[in-house]
Amino acid sequence: MSDGPGPGTIQTTALIVAAGSGLRLGAGGPKALVEVGGRPLFEWALDACRESSRIGRIVIAVPPGHGREFAVDPERDEVLVDGGAARSQSVAAGLEAVETEFVLVHDAARPLVTADLIDRTIFALEVEPDVDAVISAAPVTDTVKVIDHEGVVASTLDRDTLRSVQTPQVFRTEALRRAIELGDVEQATDDAFLIESAGGRVGVFDGPPTNIKVTVPADLAMAEFLLGRDPENS
Ligand code: CTP
Ligand code: MG
Repeated sequence: MSDGPGPGTIQTTALIVAAGSGLRLGAGGPKALVEVGGRPLFEWALDACRESSRIGRIVIAVPPGHGREFAVDPERDEVLVDGGAARSQSVAAGLEAVETEFVLVHDAARPLVTADLIDRTIFALEVEPDVDAVISAAPVTDTVKVIDHEGVVASTLDRDTLRSVQTPQVFRTEALRRAIELGDVEQATDDAFLIESAGGRVGVFDGPPTNIKVTVPADLAMAEFLLGRDPENS
């Protein structure tokens, strides 16, 4: 798949999903508002979207009741919507504020995203007319085994065929709307799954392994370290 950023003709809205409660982080409040590198977690992704040459409107799905804690820029086209109970319900809520042909969905919990990764992922969809979405994903470095119901190894997967899925994920907006209408939104841990379930095609863009998700407390320390050392984010 080609990966050079193009001139860009297709309009894209960013949808940052930030409505999760962060149970596994255990910070006692919404994960997107936890400080990392001296600022609330969601601001890193927001800044990357602002720096992108391809993003117009930025929609943020926030935990209901916490909107005032998400500082957006009144001078820009930045919109807050209340998220839902499951991740894809937050995406569905955010899609109501999307009017463009493409939508880029990104986890607020991935602060290492860059404008360059955003632009390249959008471009990768733009040049592949027969796919419905392009997702950022990294090669898997661990050996991955399948276990049976007794916890005994049943098989070892071929690592060359595996990818660890990240966001950003860029969609043809209408394809994502249809997939959400048809799909099991409570089950989906990413939105590309809904496209796959609906019989759509999902392309993969090689994202950097450093584009980690803050899930458990150890990830916060890793994110602080990576944000401090990455010139794109410092
Ligand atoms: N998310 C969301 N709405 C939800 C659940 C998740 O917008 N109902 C967002 C989170 O805010 C996060 C991203 O989806 O940016 C990835 O989800 P995850 O890492 O699971 O975050 P949380 O659901 O907040 O964490 P946990 O599962 O530990 O509670
Ligand atoms: Mg979750």
